Amino acid sequence: MMAACIPLSAPDISEAEIAAVSAVLRTGRLSLGPELTAFETELAAYHGVNHAVAVSSGTAGLHLALLTLGVGEKDEVILPAFSFAAVANAVFQVRAKPILVEIDPATLNLDPAAVERAVSHRTRAIIAVHTFGVPAEMEAIRDLARHYKLALIEDSSEAIGASIGGRPAGSFGDLAILGFYPNKQITTGEGGAVLASSPAHAAHLRRLRNQGRDPTADWLDHAEPGYNYRLSELACALGRVQLRRIDEILALRRRAAERYDALLSEIRGLERPPLSLPGRNLSWFVYVVRLPKSADRNWVQAMLAGRGIATGRYFAPIHLQPAWLARNRAVNDYLALTESIAPRTLALPFFNRITAEQQQRVADALRESIAGAG
Ligand SMILES: Cc1ncc(COP(=O)(O)O)c(C=O)c1O
Repeated sequence: MMAACIPLSAPDISEAEIAAVSAVLRTGRLSLGPELTAFETELAAYHGVNHAVAVSSGTAGLHLALLTLGVGEKDEVILPAFSFAAVANAVFQVRAKPILVEIDPATLNLDPAAVERAVSHRTRAIIAVHTFGVPAEMEAIRDLARHYKLALIEDSSEAIGASIGGRPAGSFGDLAILGFYPNKQITTGEGGAVLASSPAHAAHLRRLRNQGRDPTADWLDHAEPGYNYRLSELACALGRVQLRRIDEILALRRRAAERYDALLSEIRGLERPPLSLPGRNLSWFVYVVRLPKSADRNWVQAMLAGRGIATGRYFAPIHLQPAWLARNRAVNDYLALTESIAPRTLALPFFNRITAEQQQRVADALRESIAGAG
């Protein structure tokens, strides 16, 4: 009999989440109600910031953050080339130009020296992504932002619960983004949030997410053009329970990462992600290994798929995506590190409730497929 499939990710929904969402359904209030207010208050408190503005996705959050910081046409925004396309998409959405820069091979995050080299007279903002839940070098990047008078956005979509020197990721930038897609550490189905310290930023974000309305104004009065990026009461109720469980969730994910680290340590040439970094606390979003240089990733993926094991290519460099290539190299350069690392990455099944047996199966299949994939 074929063993059951192991997915790449899986949300962890307990009876408490189901009860909370059902309770909202019974109230009849499905949008802009007490769950939204409470979720925002709890998210802000968790990150030690003054405000959190919940939105319909992480991408919506990035879009609103750029608008709120005044980024627009002819501006340049610096971001890592090794990241999820949403980050570049949001920059295009405000008609600015993404400047994709090189990463630090150890952390896969923005290399501050590469950021500094990319600054020009058009640069308006830096988006520092905490890739895979590993905190970026926020002190150095914040110093650069201050020195060159640039806005700083932290993309913490993959890193809720991470910290740097004891300070939460998401509390360093002018604004920070959270994402709650079902593969994330906590989920609202679809959803996201923007963290802000400034009350003016928070007020502007709230207006923009709700068709440009002032919260106190009539439903049909619009102070400025805006969007429908609201997050429903159902989603907020779900997110509140997940946030309440976050310590348990992060501990489960850390344990799964530690198990993989031990299981995979003997595969020659396979590079494992760091389990810890000095002064930083990691939040495990995905478990991404780098295959030996000699291995054929397509072959490895096909072998694992044949055994019912899902894997992912995290990430393809943004500047090599057909979407950006079609822009006639408007955004790219040759980025040696990103281009050499990205084709070797492989995300393994990773979720709160992955069992030791499932991880053993993944490790065995990976070992065998690498041996046959040279
Ligand atoms: C780094 C990063 N930024 C932004 C996003 C976009 O979030 P969403 O999928 O909620 O729009 C993601 C997504 O998954 C992400 O990994």
